[in-house]
Amino acid sequence: MEMVSGDGGVSKLEDGSAAAEREPWFPSSGGGGGGRMRGKEKERWWRGRVLVVGVVVALPLLAFFVLGRESASSVLQLASDKLTAMNVEFTTNTSRGGGATRQVDELLGGLLPPGMDRRSCRSRYQSAWYYKHFPYAPSPHLLAKLRAYEARHRRCAPGTAPYNASVEQLRSGRSADGMECRYIVWLPFDGLGNRMLSMVSGFLYALLTDRVLLVDLPPDTSELFCEPFPGTTWLLPPDFPVGNLFGLGPRPDVSYMSLRAKKKIVVDAAANGTVPAYVYLSLGWHMVDRLFFCGDDQRALGKVNWLLLYSDLYFVPSLYSVAEFNGELQRLFPAKESACHLLMRYLLHPTNAVWGMVTRYHDTYLSPANRTIGIQIRMFSFASIPVDDLYNQILACSRQEHILPETDDGGDLSETNDNNSNGSTTTAILIASLYPDYYERIRATYYEHAAKGGVLVAVFQPTHEERQATEKLLHNQKALSEIYLLGFSDELVTSGAHGHRVPATPCRRAVSMEPCNLTPPRAGDEECRGKAVDVDDLARHVRPCDDHDKGVKFYD
Ligand SMILES: *[C@@H]1O[C@H](CO)[C@@H](O)[C@H](O)[C@H]1NC(C)=O
Ligand SMILES: *[C@@H]1O[C@H](CO)[C@@H](O)[C@H](O)[C@H]1NC(C)=O
Ligand SMILES: *[C@@H]1O[C@H](CO)[C@@H](O)[C@H](O)[C@H]1NC(C)=O
Ligand SMILES: *[C@@H]1O[C@H](CO)[C@@H](O)[C@H](O)[C@H]1NC(C)=O
Ligand SMILES: *[C@@H]1O[C@H](CO)[C@@H](O)[C@H](O)[C@H]1NC(C)=O
Ligand SMILES: *[C@@H]1O[C@H](CO)[C@@H](O)[C@H](O)[C@H]1NC(C)=O
Repeated sequence: MEMVSGDGGVSKLEDGSAAAEREPWFPSSGGGGGGRMRGKEKERWWRGRVLVVGVVVALPLLAFFVLGRESASSVLQLASDKLTAMNVEFTTNTSRGGGATRQVDELLGGLLPPGMDRRSCRSRYQSAWYYKHFPYAPSPHLLAKLRAYEARHRRCAPGTAPYNASVEQLRSGRSADGMECRYIVWLPFDGLGNRMLSMVSGFLYALLTDRVLLVDLPPDTSELFCEPFPGTTWLLPPDFPVGNLFGLGPRPDVSYMSLRAKKKIVVDAAANGTVPAYVYLSLGWHMVDRLFFCGDDQRALGKVNWLLLYSDLYFVPSLYSVAEFNGELQRLFPAKESACHLLMRYLLHPTNAVWGMVTRYHDTYLSPANRTIGIQIRMFSFASIPVDDLYNQILACSRQEHILPETDDGGDLSETNDNNSNGSTTTAILIASLYPDYYERIRATYYEHAAKGGVLVAVFQPTHEERQATEKLLHNQKALSEIYLLGFSDELVTSGAHGHRVPATPCRRAVSMEPCNLTPPRAGDEECRGKAVDVDDLARHVRPCDDHDKGVKFYD
């Protein structure tokens, strides 16, 4: 689905063997790693745990995300929730008259604000009916923070007097003294999955710093997501005074680090000089502005009224290394692993056009099945693995983890038929891939061979677009609907950022459902200054990613 077309920025593949030396990822405190590898038990515990929390929309997103960049280990990553026992009939109470047998909390435990228009964004209230699992309730602190955010957004949104005043200040190039509202403007960069991840990261940053998040959506993204905040808009008006924001690229010359080098912004607790009217943050995979993740720099940036965010990363785990954010993040997300999951479900709701695709497909093909397995296969122009090899890898993974129904080679057909005749089990396999090859093969397998136990297996692939086309709206709508369809499955297999060969271990379970922060800031010549964080706590909760040990992610 998402494939990063060779943009020249993709680093060479490396063989990310588990033994690779890991650098400390946080710029402060060069040591790190105190409790890093503590405890095989912990790992084992986690392996069991992910069985329960595997399928959420965030996980398929991770898959999108990992594919883009310098990759490491060659694994199929697997996450599964063995929730078949909980696999209740999920019907909407409208379309399936009388079928609703379970209580569904449409507002997700208060995560979503009540009272928004149902018809203009049906997914907001209907998705709860499709998700099989909502493993983490939002904390009371998060709920309070979200409600306060919504009020702030209404007060500061485009068209209001504070917004007009702030834009006037920006136009004049003056530094912002006494402005009521401060903003962070999200700019699009890279593929759809990456954009979604940087959007939620930008939103969390707005929550942490009392800013207002505005987004500048290009035409290819404009009809994908509903307005998330009640009674207001998050769209940046077209007459925003900083022009040419799309395609600006990661420009080191106008980034935070260059302003800092030119002393246009001074990072010093005692300094109270002027700051620029706006600062451009280059926090994508180039990670130009890595000192963004330092306490003192955050204090300096706090005085800047307009931040323009340019990122394709899920940079939330790196915010945890800022002492000032650390405590707040703990209160917002007592379970670190819930951060992206909750933020995504709060912020991103597919438009009716996308939601229509999701529900039509789901209700037609997937909901009749007793069990749904999602398989996402990502391919990179720079790391092509032969179809045969990857197919065999999927089968090997499936055998190891008992995912796909086993085939019953040479079994007694009449016996199988007997079992089928009394209300058999059906399994739907949903394949998301740019190409049809895997679908053809898996479908042929279950056409030519019966599955054990008389299980009926249906194989589906909604699209095979052949190439990624992030610049096309319809392509993105289809990709987004597949993200959601995958998110509704019971078990999910997603190909990792693989190399040219099939690894000895075909796959492993994801240990945390958080996405990977692929390019965290690294220790450099300049050390962070500011309040120290609890290094042990940091090392416990922010650790190398399963399939990419240069990246980091949240663990509990
Ligand atoms: C479910 O039923 C309730 C009460 O009848 C109704 O208000 C609500 O709109 C229905 N939910 C959906 C998703 O249609
Ligand atoms: C803000 O400016 C816009 C035009 O740029 C104007 O239409 C609107 O009324 C202004 N809002 C207030 C509250 O002054
Ligand atoms: C900061 O501003 C105050 C008042 O404007 C001034 O007295 C003080 O000297 C300034 N400090 C620095 C370090 O510039
Ligand atoms: C099918 O019938 C057999 C024997 O009649 C029974 O043991 C089995 O549980 C039935 N299977 C299903 C899926 O109902
Ligand atoms: C599978 O679903 C069908 C119809 O939805 C149902 O009749 C059957 O009992 C289910 N089988 C199992 C094993 O849950
Ligand atoms: C038929 O079902 C029975 C009971 O569920 C099972 O023991 C048997 O192995 C099944 N037969 C085949 C051929 O799978």
